[in-house]
Amino acid sequence: MDILIRGGRILDPSRDVDQIGDLWVRDGVIAELVPHGPAPTGRRGLTVIDASGQVVCPGLIDVHCHLRDPGQEEKETIATGTRAAARGGFTSVCSMANTTPPVDNRAVIEYIRRKAAGEGVIRVFPLAAVTRGMGGRELTEMADLADAGAIAFSDDGKPLLDSGVMRHALEYSRLVGRPIMVHEEDTALSAGGVMNEGPVATRLGLKGWPGVAEEVMIARDLLLAELTGGRLHIAHVTTARGVEIIRQARDRGIRFTAEATPHHLTLTDEWVAGLRPDGRSAIPYDTATKVNPPLRSEADRQALVAAIREGVLDLISTDHAPHSEVDKLCEYGAAAFGISGLETALASLLGLVHAGELSLSLLIRRLTCDPARAFGLSGGTLKPGSPADICVFDPDARWTVDPARMASKGKNTPLAGLTLRGLVTVTLCDGRIVHLHEDHQSIVSGEEVPV
Ligand code: DOR
Repeated sequence: MDILIRGGRILDPSRDVDQIGDLWVRDGVIAELVPHGPAPTGRRGLTVIDASGQVVCPGLIDVHCHLRDPGQEEKETIATGTRAAARGGFTSVCSMANTTPPVDNRAVIEYIRRKAAGEGVIRVFPLAAVTRGMGGRELTEMADLADAGAIAFSDDGKPLLDSGVMRHALEYSRLVGRPIMVHEEDTALSAGGVMNEGPVATRLGLKGWPGVAEEVMIARDLLLAELTGGRLHIAHVTTARGVEIIRQARDRGIRFTAEATPHHLTLTDEWVAGLRPDGRSAIPYDTATKVNPPLRSEADRQALVAAIREGVLDLISTDHAPHSEVDKLCEYGAAAFGISGLETALASLLGLVHAGELSLSLLIRRLTCDPARAFGLSGGTLKPGSPADICVFDPDARWTVDPARMASKGKNTPLAGLTLRGLVTVTLCDGRIVHLHEDHQSIVSGEEVPV
């Protein structure tokens, strides 16, 4: 089966390609990129995707999302989570280990891989826990878990408070050749905090979660990475001071990787008070804005964007954290932390491009080849011979976020009702169309392709 993606802006930061052209896919593999030419007529076995006015880039890669399977299937399953990812343009996701039970033994990894192969529509790379039961005390059998397919290790959601355990985890990360991904939070400092500590929290009467709780842990782990030479990956950095500490560590030559999320790059704690940057008001105390670590100040947001631009932070990941209605339909303090983000990630980040804060090619780099490199994944490129993992999006199409239309079971997005600019129209994984937007069916013609 051949697929021809015609007339799009082919953007492949892995090879510095940015040109209008036609991309051929043969038998699930990227075959060649040729100058834009006339449409072939009457070829049997050919599917044509009209990508004129659209961007064609490698399938996006998310190294940090929660698929909730096993054990919390009321929030998400591998079937719904991977469909949500495909709608968002993602073709590879790394699933977090805080499932029920946690991914702390080979059987759970095997379950996830088997389920992903059966009901997943894109690639799923499971993370495993760093400690048994995510209890923070005893390391898991990291070599055995890596052998079973763990792509990295994380107790995400639960910070690794014991510095001795963290040191050993980093030492083992060298042996197994997989990163330790850390949620940086000194819970003695953040205790009881539900939003960013600062004037907005004071105004709202909500308990603050101070940036320093994150920053002390970032500093500790960078020192331990320097000591051990282990592979550290810092999850969801949120503060300007955290960025500054990371910048200093880079200058010292310490090796590690770090990420920021779409919500921390685009939203601030003013959203919790119901103030949106577009001047329209949102509901104050909307529990969909409650996330851990919390949305920070505008100065923090700007520092994160600068860090993504300059490569001080390596990549963008969603921290897609779906929750059911009962987890969020309550007062702010009692609600679960987390934002459902796979389906809005690209469009909300394109807001930064439209505002002139980031270039399009840099944004796509941070969502494709950079995460692939950080986690040793093979995707993130349109190089001929690579599996055809491709995202096609219209950078200008406007759409209104409607949780009811989302594939994810997690409807917990603070963007509900907001009009975004930038829409994923087609996603291909392994040369198969795994998402074709319902309002853009006509851009695909030729052979019948199952979606
Ligand atoms: O907001 C969050 N939600 N932060 C985390 O660290 C965990 C995640 C979840 O699992 O819901």
